[in-house]
Amino acid sequence: MNRRDALRALFAASLSGCGRSSGKGDEPPRPAGKLRIVFKHQPLWGDPAPFRELLADFERQSGDVEVVTEPLPNASDVVHQFFLTALEGGARDFDVFIADVVWVAELARAGWIADLSSAFPPDAIRKEFLPGAAQAAIVDQKTWAVPWYVDTGVLYRRTDLLPSPPLTYDELAESALSAVRGGAVDQGYVWQGRQYEGLVCNVYETLWGFGGETMRGGRVLLDTPEARGALSYMRRLLASGASPASVTSQAEEESRRSFQSGRAALMRNWPYAYAEAQKEGSPVRGKVAVSALPSVSGAAGHGTLGGYLLALNARSHAYKRERALQLMAHLSSADANVRLALNYGRNPARRAPYEDPRVQQGASVIAGLLPVIERARPRPVTPYYPMISEVLQGEFSAAISGIRSPEEALSRAQALVDHLTGERP
Ligand code: GLC
Repeated sequence: MNRRDALRALFAASLSGCGRSSGKGDEPPRPAGKLRIVFKHQPLWGDPAPFRELLADFERQSGDVEVVTEPLPNASDVVHQFFLTALEGGARDFDVFIADVVWVAELARAGWIADLSSAFPPDAIRKEFLPGAAQAAIVDQKTWAVPWYVDTGVLYRRTDLLPSPPLTYDELAESALSAVRGGAVDQGYVWQGRQYEGLVCNVYETLWGFGGETMRGGRVLLDTPEARGALSYMRRLLASGASPASVTSQAEEESRRSFQSGRAALMRNWPYAYAEAQKEGSPVRGKVAVSALPSVSGAAGHGTLGGYLLALNARSHAYKRERALQLMAHLSSADANVRLALNYGRNPARRAPYEDPRVQQGASVIAGLLPVIERARPRPVTPYYPMISEVLQGEFSAAISGIRSPEEALSRAQALVDHLTGERP
């Protein structure tokens, strides 16, 4: 099934208000031997050993489970497409899987993920996890996924070239240009400009930095002066040479590699890039600082709230359910959050690990990002987000590459998104 057919199927399922049944009547008995639980996740980068150890701890504690991990590609949209196709087709060859913060409402609405409210009551989720992560997990007062780690957009800079962070967009562009002109780097400021989900995150951050809002009532706001300001600024970064033309084909990893190789002075990325840039052998090790994104006024900007949750395939066999829920509890525990922060530079989705001395000492940059995470803002929260995003990706990409003016791109995006959501001004 191609993406458009999958979206259509989703729409049909959501309109009828019911997804595929959990297939209770056709449940086979539990096979003999170890219970095999399949966990699908994206790579965490870094040394795989600590993550394997985390899973092995669970296998030891449970005594009768084998956790099989199946890695997914790194790009969030590619993974989304995979799940859409697999879940719509009724796949039950995987049990626990990662869901980007922007998919949970859609997957829940389609009936493709299990309601976890009795194992993870919404009140407990709200109490123990950061508000953005809890908001992504709970849809219509039910828990549909358990937060795993959170992300937010941050600004990276080379401290040997820029002792203090640029605070305004003008300062950012000037610092990038002067670093290029001075010959220290050949790419000034790198970010994610490829036509994909990451671009939407980058544009929202700039739109918020220009003082824009995401939604008003139920309507996604796009055709606004702030959004026009944001897209014009991003276009200017490319046109002026403050950002290299290659930004329009960069996703997270391409930007990180440019920055880590020493070619760029500044980068927008998620927190994971810090641990990578500081690794032994990294050409920029010891010369990297992380700060809040800039804004038009110089006040600390708002990063996009990202990150992943753990969801349970609604078609996963009933005899696996108890152990699958225990695995989700294990992977999202405070201790697991700490281990992910220390070994993979992932920001805990829980509140408590930020106070944990192991994180404060062993991952001080991650611990120090708490105020930045608390300022992070979500992309439009609606079950139709993935469809909206597809429209935004095309229009934002056309505007930053100069194919359409920001005015034209935003007025087209507004009309299309209003049509999809049935909202009117
Ligand atoms: C990161 C974020 C995720 C976002 C994606 C976009 O993986 O955690 O929320 O959708 O980047 O590329």
